[in-house]
Amino acid sequence: MSNKYISKLRDDFPLLKQQVNGKNLVYFDNGATAQKPQEVIDCISQYYTEFNANIHRGVHTLSQESTTKYEQARKKIQRYFNAEFEEEVIFTKGTTDGINLVANGFEKSILKKGDEVLISTMEHHSNIVPWQMACEQTGAQLKIIPISDSGELLMESYKEMLSSKTKIVAVTHVSNTLGSINPVKEIVNLAHAHGSAVLIDGAQSVQHMRVDLQSLGADFYTFSAHKIFGPTGIGVLHGKKEWLDRLPPYQGGGDMIKTVTFEKTTYNDLPHKFEAGTPNIAGGIAMGAVMDYVEKINWEEVSSHEEELLVYATSQMSEIEGIRIVGQAKVKAGVVSFVHESIHHYDIGTLLDQMGIAIRTGHHCTEPLMNRMGVTGTARVSFACYNTMDEVDYFIKSLKRALRMLG
Ligand code: ALA
Repeated sequence: MSNKYISKLRDDFPLLKQQVNGKNLVYFDNGATAQKPQEVIDCISQYYTEFNANIHRGVHTLSQESTTKYEQARKKIQRYFNAEFEEEVIFTKGTTDGINLVANGFEKSILKKGDEVLISTMEHHSNIVPWQMACEQTGAQLKIIPISDSGELLMESYKEMLSSKTKIVAVTHVSNTLGSINPVKEIVNLAHAHGSAVLIDGAQSVQHMRVDLQSLGADFYTFSAHKIFGPTGIGVLHGKKEWLDRLPPYQGGGDMIKTVTFEKTTYNDLPHKFEAGTPNIAGGIAMGAVMDYVEKINWEEVSSHEEELLVYATSQMSEIEGIRIVGQAKVKAGVVSFVHESIHHYDIGTLLDQMGIAIRTGHHCTEPLMNRMGVTGTARVSFACYNTMDEVDYFIKSLKRALRMLG
């Protein structure tokens, strides 16, 4: 049953049918970006073929059609993620942009000397650097929640670090490097009990699970469209209305204003206050198609399938001499990072590519985490719903072959 469902799902993704270096492609780099279903690709092509026009600006038919489709996408995002209000859905360039928007707002209007910002050791650079910049400007202090050797947040330390000085806690839902799924609801509740806001980086969670924003209760949740089978260059920041009302605009320009004179500008209502300039219209509209697609996914089925891939790959890889898996949290998404005792991860990645297998190598934009785990980089396989057990078997066989060739 599971396999039938997965092979049907897999058929939706045309790129997976191609060959790379003369071999059937095995795409295990979903943490970097996920592939796109045909209906999303068609939606983008249809936009440029049939109704390309700027939005929120024209009385003419094409502009109105584009505007309607763009705003329908926002409504679909609200519905799928169960946000309370449509205007809490802000279109951004992606996760990084969303985090920068919030960090910039906190820098300008919330943080002051003596305040604290909490992030964790396993954050992506995009959830470290914007907070460092905000802290540098305001004199607030950046504090780092430690993790265990297996890659789990140390929740007791987190509890001890929270205080009335904490103004925001910014942590990832799922680690892009380790795959650890963090207990985000508990993180949110604990922060709120101390009066702190919470931002959750959802970049790596949205392709593995359905997130219910109201039940999670985070003040901000942000993700990129391309990680959830949509295009690059567009993403979503969800913010609770009271927070978005409180924060100042991030950028100035068209669309984010109500009135402009040389003396004074008044800002537009949400969500437009945070959406200056002509946005990625095709991307926004494609998000509507993405939402239609993910609404149809049986997430329970996908989640148990990805768990099977993870458990199987982990057990097979653990048996290979010289391999060490980096990140062995009890609750993980379909991500396996690994190193070999004597062979560099780049060499492994390069040889696997020759065998048609796409994986990511390097520090995964998590250099502080690499330091914590005592490595300079890893090779990483990351699964999505359309990957199969046969692909894992081929990967294991190819990995063993690559190690023999390099050893
Ligand atoms: N942050 C993305 C990854 O982990 C690009 O690969």
